[in-house]
Parts: sequence; C-alpha cells; structure tokens
Amino acid sequence: MTSQPRRSPLPSDNFAPYDVERVRADFPILGRKVHGHPLVFLDTAASAQKPNAVLDAMDRFCREDYANVHRGVYYLSERATHAYEAARETVRGFVNAREAAEIVFTRNTTEAINLVAASHGANFRPGDEIILSAIEHHSNIVPWQMLRERAGIVLRVAPVDDSGELILDAFADLLGPRTKLVAITHISNAIGTVMPVAEIVRLAHAAGARVLIDGSQAAPHQAIDVQALDCDFYAFTGHKLYGPTGIGVLYGKAELLAAMPPYQSGGEMIRSVSFEKTEYAAPPARFEAGTPNIVGAIGLAAAIDYVATIGFDSIAAHEQALLRHGTALLSEVKGLRLVGTARHKAAILSFVIDGVHPHDVATILDRSGIAVRAGHHCAQPAMERFGVSGTSRASCGLYTRLDELDALAQGLARVREIFG
Ligand code: ALA
Repeated sequence: MTSQPRRSPLPSDNFAPYDVERVRADFPILGRKVHGHPLVFLDTAASAQKPNAVLDAMDRFCREDYANVHRGVYYLSERATHAYEAARETVRGFVNAREAAEIVFTRNTTEAINLVAASHGANFRPGDEIILSAIEHHSNIVPWQMLRERAGIVLRVAPVDDSGELILDAFADLLGPRTKLVAITHISNAIGTVMPVAEIVRLAHAAGARVLIDGSQAAPHQAIDVQALDCDFYAFTGHKLYGPTGIGVLYGKAELLAAMPPYQSGGEMIRSVSFEKTEYAAPPARFEAGTPNIVGAIGLAAAIDYVATIGFDSIAAHEQALLRHGTALLSEVKGLRLVGTARHKAAILSFVIDGVHPHDVATILDRSGIAVRAGHHCAQPAMERFGVSGTSRASCGLYTRLDELDALAQGLARVREIFG
C-alpha cells in the first residue's frame, strides 16, 4: 500500500475540531516511512510520539542552561534549578494541585505507585485491605502484592462487566472498615474503559479509605483536576503525554506526603546528615533522592504546554470521533471481537480475530507500516477476565487521522484474506 488509504464516508469523518494535519507537522517521526509505506502509528497508548516543541526544549536546555539543580550558586545552576522548579509548577497547574510541593517527580507511573506502596504503605498493618479493579495494569497490581508479602495486607478485586465497565455496586460492597486504600486506573490501557473515578473517590472516602488513581492513560486525553476529584494520590507518566521517557509524576495531598517516610535515600532528600543522625527534607525533595531527571522534567513541561495549545476539549472531541469511526470499521471485520466496549471509553481499540494470533495480526499490519501493539498489554488479569491470552490493540492520540483507521481496516481485510 503506497497510496494514501481510502477514507470511509462516515458521519464522524466530517468532524474536524482542529487541524490535525498542522498538528502532525509538529511530529517529525510521523513523516517517515516504514517498509516503504507511510507510518500509521496506532500505538500511542504504549508511548506517544514527541513534537518538536518537546525535542527543542530539551535540546535548548542542554545546549544553553544545563547544570545540576539545587546544588550550586553559580549562574547556570540557578538557571537550571529555576527551570526544573518551573516545570514542577507547570505540572501543578496541569493537574490543578494546590501547591507545587504536592508534585513529586518520579521515573514513571510505575515508580510513583511503588513509592506510595513502599512509603504510605509502610503504615499498613496485617488485615488492612486495598481494593483494585479487575483491569489494572501490572504496575498497579504487583507493588501491592509485594506489600501484601511484607505487611500481610489483603487485596480485593472489584469486578467489571462484559463491556469492561466497573460494577459499581460490587465495588461499594468491597469497601469496609479495613479498607485503607483504593488503587484504581483512570483509563484502562488494555481496553480503554474510563473509570467513574469521581464516584469511586466519593464512595471510598465515605468508607474512610484513601484513593490512588493511575492516570497513565488519562493524562494525555483529558483535563485532570485533583482538587475537584479530591483523590489522595494521582500518578502519571511523561512519555504517554507526548513528553520524554524517564519522567513521571506523583501528586499527593500535602498532609499525606508530609506524613510519609522517604522511599529512596541519598543526596537531595535530606535536611542534614551526620553519622549519628539524618534529618529528611520536606516533600517533594524527600522523595527525589539523587540527581533527578532534569532534562526530562523540562521536556514534560514543554509537552504539557504543547497539549495546552490544542486544548483538551478539542483533543477529546477528536479522539471520540476516532473512537466512533474505528469502532464502526472494526465491527465490519468478519470474526473480529472488540474486547472492551464500555460506554465511556478512550480511543483504544483492543480486539481479537477468530483463528488468528494477535501477534500475527500485528506482524501483518506492520508490513504495511501500521504499528499496533499485540499481547497482554501488561494487564494479564484483564485479559483473563475476557477469556483471551492477549489482543491486538490500536490506540490513538491527538495526531491520529481518521483515514489511518481506514488503513487499519484495510490491513485487517488483508489479515482475513491470508487466514481465510
Ligand atoms: N502501559 C503501556 C501500554 O499499554 C506500555 O502499552
């Protein structure tokens, strides 16, 4: 396939809340070819591509202002410190936290959740309960299992229905006097379900439990307001938000962070050290041991600024049009079953095709330059819930074009031809 894919005359095709072509021009990689075909990148849920604004900000910082932060009194060090703390302030505004000290830079969402499990979790006692949902990413399961081994806590799993929606009554029934924490995804990476997080927080707080939200997949697609949500912790990562890898964020309510012991130790997280005694710094420094990912923080702030220039209302409208278009197209493919059909969904299309292994689907699509992920998506319990070992998954971002989903549908038609 060397020509542009055919566009289907679906109603959603006319929906153009912003100029996607102009946005695409900001992402150099989208212009490249793969196996002789224009790249059709449908793996944004795994990691998003990076706009020039992010690449340039990191490049400029390294060329002009780079030095370590919080350590020097010389000009460059002060400039670097200012830029790093300005990035924290950008993140604060992005999630609408009350104060910048509630924003801890981590390596990614996984590290943010591990931080909460190790530090906030240090107060948990045998028999204390944590509620997860049945469709969590492994990064929001395994840290709690390790805490279970250390502290004897109990994990409870809230079920989802056949569409992938949380069964709210069943969730509410799990809440009780032993529930210390609800750790739940905002949007499922594997099947796209948008969880009713506001309702979850309300119910959990009424039962006296804290709430951690894994916002990895939500932060790139919708505005986050931690004050309106009233969640206790919110974690997300930079690389899915059009920023660099190696930088993530833990938001925590100030009073909770202040009561938490350090996660890792070393430089930066101390107030004073002697061989007899060490006093720890206040948050967020307490949780940022060692030289942080300074360049990553600069890139993340640039990504947030970039996304803000488009606006989440426009991004959400575009992505919902993509979801409608893709769902309609995939529903026409013989033998294809969509896994995850929640009413409130992100533009993530997870599917299986009768008699074809998900990896074979992805490999055949790749020959036409179409990138989708195949496998269990680091969510094996979610796959088990839907009776599959894995799926093929097409996931969209703010730069995805409607006709790229046409290309996907044409690629799937080829898969059908090959496998009969
Ligand atoms: N969590 C990422 C995904 O969903 C890697 O693909």
